Amino acid sequence: MTQTKRIAVIPGDGIGVDVTREATAAISAAATKHNILLDLDELPYGSEYYLRTGIGLPREERLRIGRDYDGILLGAVGDPRVPDNRTAREIVLGLRFDLDLYINLRPILLIADGLTSLKGKSVQDIQFVIFRENTEGSYGGIGGQQHAGTTSEIALGQIVATWRGTHRIIRAAFEYAEKHKLTRVCVVHKQNAIPHVYGLWLRVFRQVAQDYPNVEASEMLVDRAAMEIIRAPEQFQVIVTSNLFGDILSDLAAMIAGGLGLAASANINPETLVLCEPVHGSAPDIAGKGIANPLAACLSAALLMDNLGFPEAAVTIDNAVRAAIFSGCVTPDLGGTKTTRQVGAFVAETISK
Ligand SMILES: NC(=O)c1ccc[n+]([C@@H]2O[C@H](COP(=O)([O-])OP(=O)(O)OC[C@H]3O[C@@H](n4cnc5c(N)ncnc54)[C@H](O)[C@@H]3O)[C@@H](O)[C@H]2O)c1
Repeated sequence: MTQTKRIAVIPGDGIGVDVTREATAAISAAATKHNILLDLDELPYGSEYYLRTGIGLPREERLRIGRDYDGILLGAVGDPRVPDNRTAREIVLGLRFDLDLYINLRPILLIADGLTSLKGKSVQDIQFVIFRENTEGSYGGIGGQQHAGTTSEIALGQIVATWRGTHRIIRAAFEYAEKHKLTRVCVVHKQNAIPHVYGLWLRVFRQVAQDYPNVEASEMLVDRAAMEIIRAPEQFQVIVTSNLFGDILSDLAAMIAGGLGLAASANINPETLVLCEPVHGSAPDIAGKGIANPLAACLSAALLMDNLGFPEAAVTIDNAVRAAIFSGCVTPDLGGTKTTRQVGAFVAETISK
């Protein structure tokens, strides 16, 4: 038995609630199987809670979560009834920024040939990870407006890049490559049009790359990268990029590996804690219909186990997800007829076997 790990579970909104239920069942089954003590604590935050109480997720509570838990499992946040996106800002971005979760790891690992939308590509061609910088870039909310609501309106938004922030995400990408015996790291940038910010990125990248002589370091403009991920994804092993570019490229890349229903992510600070969540949002168009694919949330639960130091439990969850796919126990987005609950039950039962 290991020391008990405390996990905060925040299902959030829409399909976040449905898929988190199944991911929680998967993680509990894996913990039982591997003799891991987990204390799962469900927190009520989300748009429903905000509309009822006026409370999103205040900063003091975000910091308490950071102090009290080893990990966080998040569903999704976003509700059209909260027009200024306050809940998503306070929960999703608030936790990333306040808890300094500077690595956003997004694996793009095709599980079965039939799941890719790319002609002529198969499992071995689509196996890479994206390291997205998660605390800087265009997402800090620095900026303002003048003459708002008139035809003279001016809007300014700042991009932030620091040496420290850039250095630590690039270093993490190279460390990941070494640890996983990968030989290629590519930095995706836009130095030609945004020279100050991406000039810093390239200088830091070239400097860090010198410490990893066994890893081939390459540089690619973001527009070219969007094209190359579709044309020849086999060239990529580790991509490291800024917050905005990583956000966009990882959704694009998710579509060549089975879609949002299979895309998992981990927000990591190696010194403190990890927050895992599916890449998808709350999907209001299918919320309440019982057809949301829970596998991205289950794969996020596997990432959580891996980052908490339980790689065998992570592999057990991964294998159960694979078994669901290979036996056709999948939701309509993957061409199946099963419900969220049926797929979740299959995964949990497979883990427990
Ligand atoms: N991290 C987050 O919490 C997060 C991320 C993205 C979007 N959002 C929020 O979610 C809300 C909806 O955003 P959106 O519609 O642009 O993106 P979305 O990811 O919620 O949905 C995009 C499309 O993919 C489908 N889809 C997504 N997840 C699926 C799943 N698990 N199974 C089957 N189909 C799935 C949806 O039905 C929809 O057609 C917005 O409020 C947005 O701000 C939150």
